[in-house]
Amino acid sequence: MPATQIFRLYETQFRRAQGSSIQAIAECLGNMNWGRRLMQAYFDLVYNPVYDFTTARTTPYRRWQEACLDKLQLADGDRILCVGAGTGNEIIRILKRNNNVRIVAIDASQRALERACKKAGKYGKQIETVKMDAQALDFPAESFDAALCVHLMDFLSDNRKATAEILRVLKKGGQFAVTYPFSEGLKLGVNLAKGSLGCNISSGRYGKAFLELLSGVGAGIVYLPLIFRSKQGFYSYQQLEKMFTALKPEHFQIEEHSGYQDFIVYGRK
Ligand SMILES: C[S@@+](CC[C@H](N)C(=O)[O-])C[C@H]1O[C@@H](n2cnc3c(N)ncnc32)[C@H](O)[C@@H]1O
Repeated sequence: MPATQIFRLYETQFRRAQGSSIQAIAECLGNMNWGRRLMQAYFDLVYNPVYDFTTARTTPYRRWQEACLDKLQLADGDRILCVGAGTGNEIIRILKRNNNVRIVAIDASQRALERACKKAGKYGKQIETVKMDAQALDFPAESFDAALCVHLMDFLSDNRKATAEILRVLKKGGQFAVTYPFSEGLKLGVNLAKGSLGCNISSGRYGKAFLELLSGVGAGIVYLPLIFRSKQGFYSYQQLEKMFTALKPEHFQIEEHSGYQDFIVYGRK
C-alpha cells in the first residue's frame, strides 16, 4: 500500500478516535516533509500532552523557570514574546509576577498554545498565540520589550538563527533571557529525578518526592525519541560567548545551571 494511503488510513482512524483536532494536525502534516511531520506529531501527540504531568511537575523545573524570570525586569505595559512557550507554564509565572504585561506566545504546536491560552484565561488574561517556527519569527524588527525562551533550543536544527531572530524582534535596549542545553535529554530526566528527590527528602516530603521521581522518570522516557535526532543542539560556554559576541547585543551574561543541564544567556539588545 503506498505511504499516502497508509497515512490517510491512519488519519481516518485518528479522526474517528479523537475528533477534529487530529484533522487539523493531519492537514498540517500534509504540508511538511516527513522529518518535520514526525517531529510535529511527536510534539502534538506525545510530548506536549504529557509535559504538564512529567517535566513540569518537578521542583527543579519550577525553580529553573523562576530563575529565568528573575533575569527580566518586567514593567507594566511591556510587550513580551515567549518563544517556544509550550503549554504556558512560564506565562503563568510571568502573570503571577506582573499581570499588566502583554504576552505574545509562539510555538510549533497548536495544541500546546491552546493549553497555554486556557491557563492564561484562568488568570483573567488574554494572550496572543501564534503557531510559528522560532527560526523564522514572523514579526517586524523591534516589536518587543522583552523575550523569554526557555528550553527550546535543543529542539531546533538552527539555534543560532533562532537566537538572531529573537534579538531582531527585540526593541533596542529590550531584555532577553534564553536557555541553551549542554547535555542530552535522558541525562536531564535523571537529573530532574535526582533534584526532586534531594529537595523533597531533605524537607521530609516523602510522598511528594516519590511522585516527582515518577514525573522525572516519565520526562526521561518522553525525551527518549529525541536521541535519534540528526543534530543535537548542545553548546559549550565558549560557543555561546562567541555566538552572542557576534550577534552584538548591548550586553549579555552567561550562567550555568547544573541541575537543569542548561546555560542561561540574558541581557539587553
Ligand atoms: C520543552 S518544551 C518548552 C516549553 C516551555 N518553554 C517550558 O519551559 O515549559 C519545547 C517546546 O518547543 C516547541 N517547539 C519545538 N520546535 C519548535 C520550533 N521550531 N519553533 C517553535 N516551537 C518549537 C514544542 O512544541 C514544545 O512546546
